[in-house]
Amino acid sequence: MRIDVHFGPPATTGELAGRVVAVIDVLRASTTIAAALANGARAVVPLESPEEVVNRAKAFSRADVLLAGERKMLPVSGFDVGNSPREMTREVVEGKTLLLTTTNGTAAVAGIAGARDVVIASYVNFTAVLAMLRAALRGGTDIAVLCAGRDRHFSLEDAACAGRYVLHVARRLSGVHLNDAAVAATLVDRKFGDNLTKLFETSVHGRALAGAGFAEDLAVCGQIDAYGVLPIYHDRQITKLGPDRER
Ligand code: MLT
Repeated sequence: MRIDVHFGPPATTGELAGRVVAVIDVLRASTTIAAALANGARAVVPLESPEEVVNRAKAFSRADVLLAGERKMLPVSGFDVGNSPREMTREVVEGKTLLLTTTNGTAAVAGIAGARDVVIASYVNFTAVLAMLRAALRGGTDIAVLCAGRDRHFSLEDAACAGRYVLHVARRLSGVHLNDAAVAATLVDRKFGDNLTKLFETSVHGRALAGAGFAEDLAVCGQIDAYGVLPIYHDRQITKLGPDRER
């Protein structure tokens, strides 16, 4: 049994083949997706560019979709919402399909091929995703944890969150092989522990978000289990696994 962490896109698509893949973009795409689905969004469609969002919207009735996303952390001009989890209130998102583009997170999700299952992971849905990953590993399926990172570079908060998953997924299971990135991620998690405020103050993207006026988003992104949903990416969209969508 293997748990491999990737700090950025894997070198070959084969590295994800047949695995359960958890995609992490703690700041902020994973958190925003979990918040939207927890508050009743019908689905989130991850798209790579604002142009794709505008084009995809043509297939929907305007009242059914929200154009969503950021560039350089700020809402895309003309869109309904940005990429802040605090915008994903029930009043705004209930019953809607979000067409979402973000700088790193949505591209990481949309680029995955060949996985058995893909789940969007963060601190806010930690326990729900953990249960899915542990069940997969116990059933003999290898796990991959894909950190979206920042502009294709390592990001501290995604590594720390990945490390927390690795530690808890592997706990009390024998014969679990970790790649070096998974071991490194556990060391980052151990360094910060539950002090996510310190983690976000230390990370480049955390500091950038605070500087851009999104300090309150950081508080939301650090609320462990605030949105206990399982966001599953399937058929190019992310929906919540639950009574209304069994697998
Ligand atoms: C991303 O996908 O790069 C992030 O979610 C950026 C952000 O903080 O909005």
